[in-house]
Amino acid sequence: MSLVSVVKRAVEYVAERFPVEKLNYHAMVEKKEVPVHRLSWGYYLGGAALFFLCVQIVTGLMLLFYYQPTVSDAHASVEFISEHVHGGALIRNMHAWGSSMMIACVIAHLLTAFAMKAFEKPREITWVTGVGLLFLTFGFGFTGYLLPWHQIAVNATKIGLQSIEQVGQYLPGQMAQWPRAIRETIQGEATVGQATLSRFYAIHVIVLPFALAGLLGIHLLAVQLHGMSRGVDEPARRREKFFPIFIIKDFSVWGVAFFVLFVLALCLPFESFYSYPLFEAYDPNGSTPDGIKPEWYFYFVYYPLELLPFGVILVASGLAAVLLLLAPWIFRGTSRKTLRILAFAGAAYFLGMTLFGERIYHFFKGGAP
Ligand code: HEM
Repeated sequence: MSLVSVVKRAVEYVAERFPVEKLNYHAMVEKKEVPVHRLSWGYYLGGAALFFLCVQIVTGLMLLFYYQPTVSDAHASVEFISEHVHGGALIRNMHAWGSSMMIACVIAHLLTAFAMKAFEKPREITWVTGVGLLFLTFGFGFTGYLLPWHQIAVNATKIGLQSIEQVGQYLPGQMAQWPRAIRETIQGEATVGQATLSRFYAIHVIVLPFALAGLLGIHLLAVQLHGMSRGVDEPARRREKFFPIFIIKDFSVWGVAFFVLFVLALCLPFESFYSYPLFEAYDPNGSTPDGIKPEWYFYFVYYPLELLPFGVILVASGLAAVLLLLAPWIFRGTSRKTLRILAFAGAAYFLGMTLFGERIYHFFKGGAP
């Protein structure tokens, strides 16, 4: 195949996925309709993830006014926000609860999009950018966890960074050095310290937001150009106008989400789920305290890592990542019924590990849960 025909085919491929001629008021507002069927509730989850992203941006900017990204002042500045700034505790809590809710919505959105086969041609790029958004969302969680510089944050980050380096043992030749190079680049110095905090801060507030803005732009443009996918095999019960019917319902979901988040953030400090000493400022001379765990949304990989050999988890995670990324091609011929079963199994695994991971761990390893 000549270079010209390769370029021609690539241009045709992209043009089919981004039919920019539909970028007009008539196609995107007047004509757009949403199918109504038994899974249509799934269409609200991407919007809910978007809402929580907006909350994270606004509350994150407010926190930036007071937060100090230095090992000497980070913990004190976070305490100052909670105890002395008007509304500071509420904003901090909203940011912490909001991050968990955003991750929950993104995972639920992924599972419903998968179950509805929403990755089918011409939505492959919508799906692949979605997988990128999932990884970026986890990246926000991982880097944000370190910023308050307390015992649990620093120790959990050390363990996370060690796991990256461990990957090298399983790679061939020169590639075996890459994970260590990645760890050193993120960590910035011999142990988790000021350079690490500065880098995590830069990644959390600059690198990830820019990357997310780019990917989300492509994701939402593709969604707008193609409209909602059909979702189920049988014909839709009816279709409703995107403007104003669907958008009013979408904003109602946002209203409920805001109410739930606000009440939670007002009444229940996010930190109440962990034992207090773990939230004391990090002591570089102290030993690693018991009870160090990552955030709940990493339990699905954390507990299996505690129970099974690292290599097994590495291979399983690599396979899962490839399956996710290439889903539009791997599951092209799979029926929606099978996809629903797979999505249900994925959800059951994630929920099972999140809710019962600790019990499962003690069941196999012994000791009190
Ligand atoms: C920051 C994270 C994300 C945001 C803010 C977001 C936002 C949205 C929004 C607003 C929609 C249109 C409404 C809907 O169908 O729910 C949408 C559609 C879609 N998203 Fe996402 N998304 C995110 C992550 C993901 C992930 C992780 C995936 C899967 C890997 C994904 C795959 C899709 C697909 C395939 C559609 C088209 C749905 C259809 O046509 O029925 N998105 N997204």
